[in-house]
Amino acid sequence: MTAVGIDALAFFTPNTYVDLTDLAQARGDDPAKYTIGIGQDQMAVAPASQDLISMAANAAAQLPAGSLDDRLGLVIVGSESGVDESKAAAITVVRLLGLSPWLRAYDIKEACYGATAGLLAARDYVAAHPDRTALVIASDIARYGLAASGEVTQGAGAVAMLVSAAPRLLIVHDDAVAYTADLPDFFRPTGLTVPVVDGHYSTQAYLDFVTRITARHQEQYGDVLTDYTALLFHLPFTKMGKKALAALTADDRLEDRRQAASVLARRVGNIYTGSLYLSLLSLLCHDKSMRPGDRLGLFSYGSGAVGEFFSGTLAADFSDRIDAAGVTAMLAARHRLTVPEYEAMFNAQLPLGDAAATVPLGGDSARFTVGGRRDHARWYRDNT
Ligand code: CAA
Repeated sequence: MTAVGIDALAFFTPNTYVDLTDLAQARGDDPAKYTIGIGQDQMAVAPASQDLISMAANAAAQLPAGSLDDRLGLVIVGSESGVDESKAAAITVVRLLGLSPWLRAYDIKEACYGATAGLLAARDYVAAHPDRTALVIASDIARYGLAASGEVTQGAGAVAMLVSAAPRLLIVHDDAVAYTADLPDFFRPTGLTVPVVDGHYSTQAYLDFVTRITARHQEQYGDVLTDYTALLFHLPFTKMGKKALAALTADDRLEDRRQAASVLARRVGNIYTGSLYLSLLSLLCHDKSMRPGDRLGLFSYGSGAVGEFFSGTLAADFSDRIDAAGVTAMLAARHRLTVPEYEAMFNAQLPLGDAAATVPLGGDSARFTVGGRRDHARWYRDNT
């Protein structure tokens, strides 16, 4: 049977961030609560010139040259940061990237699980059509509100994944186990710009899902956790991954790998749908002992709630199919905001409902940026 999986992976995050020690001081909290208790050092802040569509296009544009050729038959955007109740963000992404129109493009929404649903749908599509490829993009801006209890777990970014037969990064096995339960842990009713969230309940729900689903995976597939070189988790904040791993095993080797997989999330924050795949990128960038043939377990959680666990095997050329140096350079080039600058940026988003508005480019150096809205339709700049 043809191996199918991730052939290349690219990441984008806006060029502005807040240092969480600054935020803790402004909120009257002990910085150790944020850096140790929550496990976050910095959080990306999206200016009004970035939304889920521009970030998605910016991530996909960084895939290796020639990735998005005429074999591309499917484009899926997983996101919970929707800017339209009807039209798929994926359609605008196809236009911004100048892709062939002879493909299927749509969005998937289920909180932070949407991109995993997209990846597994893309996997099945390519398994059925091995001559075709698929593009799956996770893109989100996590917003809880100024001084909200979830504020320190905000973030912004997008991860783009090319899915193909004979993948050069990660073979995705056909062993996914999913679990769904209707929970009120986190949701964002139409018209609200921030979610309704019960943070402590959501953390318990996550832990219940991860233990329940991995146990079922072991019953069904006969695996044990020591079969895995690393376990990767959705990381709403990095302490969540630490709690999840501790709930499953005390294996020191898996704990070392968990820390390597958390390095980028510590600096970017929660990117919702892309968070699990940012963990994958972080592991590959920061643990030089990873080898082709290593088996990874991936746990995805989307509030509401759907959880899924599946495994993958690193392919021979995995280190050439990410741009580790580019990720380091992108993070190093970011501008550190003061807390008042962050608060002004948080409040300066393109207003909902206005028919026309313009967004200044400001200091945004990304290729694709939001230009504003004309006759209700968002428009974008290509700054190349
Ligand atoms: N030094 C060190 N640690 C400290 C400390 C200090 N001075 N003060 C507090 N801490 C520790 C606490 O002991 C606690 O650790 P444990 O969880 O291990 O007990 C930790 O810091 C956090 O403290 P609190 O629980 O008091 O923090 P909080 O009430 O302010 O809220 C939160 C934390 C619930 C995560 C909140 O930030 C939140 O609601 N976040 C958004 C929701 C979320 O991310 N949920 C995750 C699961 S849902 C999901 O995964 C989907 C998704 O992406 C949203």
